[in-house]
Amino acid sequence: SGQDTLEQHRPLYHFTPPEQWMNDPNGMVFYDGEYHLFYQHYPDSNVWGPMHWGHAVSRNLVTWEHLPIALYPDSIGMIFSGSSVADVDNTSGFGSADNPPLVAMFTYHNAEGERARRNDYQTQGIAYSLDKGRTWEKYANNPVVNNPGLRDFRDPNLFWHEPTQRWVLILAAGDRVRLYNSPDLKAWTFLSEFGEKNGDHGGVWECPDLFPMMVNGQQKWVMLLSINPGGPNGGSATQYFVGNFDGKKFTTDYPNDTLWIDYGPDDYAGVTWSNVPESDGRRLFIGWMSNWDYAKEVPTYAWRSAMTVARTLSLVQTDAGVRLASRPVQELEQLRNGSYTLSAATVRDSLDLSHQANLQSPAMEFKLSFDLPKTTASDFGVRLFNDLGEEVRIGYEPQAKQWYIDRSRSGKTDFKEGFVRRITAPRLAESDTLTMHLYVDVASVELFADDGTTVMTSIFFPNEDFTHAALFTERDSLHFNGGEAFSLTQKPL
Ligand code: FRU
Repeated sequence: SGQDTLEQHRPLYHFTPPEQWMNDPNGMVFYDGEYHLFYQHYPDSNVWGPMHWGHAVSRNLVTWEHLPIALYPDSIGMIFSGSSVADVDNTSGFGSADNPPLVAMFTYHNAEGERARRNDYQTQGIAYSLDKGRTWEKYANNPVVNNPGLRDFRDPNLFWHEPTQRWVLILAAGDRVRLYNSPDLKAWTFLSEFGEKNGDHGGVWECPDLFPMMVNGQQKWVMLLSINPGGPNGGSATQYFVGNFDGKKFTTDYPNDTLWIDYGPDDYAGVTWSNVPESDGRRLFIGWMSNWDYAKEVPTYAWRSAMTVARTLSLVQTDAGVRLASRPVQELEQLRNGSYTLSAATVRDSLDLSHQANLQSPAMEFKLSFDLPKTTASDFGVRLFNDLGEEVRIGYEPQAKQWYIDRSRSGKTDFKEGFVRRITAPRLAESDTLTMHLYVDVASVELFADDGTTVMTSIFFPNEDFTHAALFTERDSLHFNGGEAFSLTQKPL
């Protein structure tokens, strides 16, 4: 990534569109050895506009091959967010037993209807592919879910529910979600609504997802739900619920808690992959690494926005209840091209990690462990910096028991008011050892703290890439237990 070029700030290993605007990840499905990633895309500009589904595939969730645009707007509307599934039993009849279809459901957004102030301009349509997602045919009788008169009615997410032998659809409607089911992905029956009494309602609800996960030998259902605005650090963010789903109705086990999958400002509209084989067993997630507060103003020009790294979700039992943890997928280890052991040390003021680890790259990974200071209350953590004096701090405040990211001196920050603000996340773990797993790229850092029980994602735009990293402690000395550092490079396909 050159300095001061149109390509400045292009991530080295995070997914970005080849050019122009991108927002939500869409339609992620695993099929025939390939992870598909579609995304909200406007191919004619680097700001949001009439939406298409861009497309890429990967065999390892790390290296992505760009494919032609999969879905274009048509006479019914623009193509907003949605999901896709492998219809392996050909319930839709779009394919055959030998060649089952991939079926995508998306929101049609009709701009004329919106301008005319009608209330039914968002409906749900479907499309199918019989050639491993390379080309798509829209269903002739679209839309398949009509709008009951709700201004915001979008972002369908599909899954097969084995006990009821039905497809289930969850979509966002204002600040509620609605559930439907179908035997064939075409005819849909309304089941229930969720949200009136639960969750955060500071904005419109978007991009729901619903899936089962095991914890304590028991099956629980997790609902992801993005909200804009209303995030814990301003703007857009993704909350979640843990509870039960009986095939018709979802209930939460924690009616009074608002929970966030990622407390950072830059992880939005994330959902999970469909049809990951049971032999794999993972619940794989990816999010849009930006925030509606400033996504259209970030200082990149050839393209706008990146996705987070792919993450594995799991449920963990904590003192506060069952919570969702996120960890970077193991496949990301393929990016490591140099690995360095960091020795334990008592840190006073600062300890230069890049020097110790011989790092000279803006793409770095760290696994670090610290003793929680018992008597002191000084902040500590990691600084990423360049020779211009610009920096990002990823740290912990023992007194407040919270993680934080400070990007106030990270370079280009004044492109939009509100980009600089205090970014914090409560620490959930109770142990006396803190761990940080950091994925750093040219324009982002993802913190997976305490085994992924606290996650924060933040983007930044330094005038020169951050190729240095150091431990810092504000006042008191700090016991660093050591760790590992890696320089990362994108491998060719
Ligand atoms: C979320 C969202 C979705 C919508 C899409 C439009 O970021 O607003 O609700 O489908 O983006 O691009």
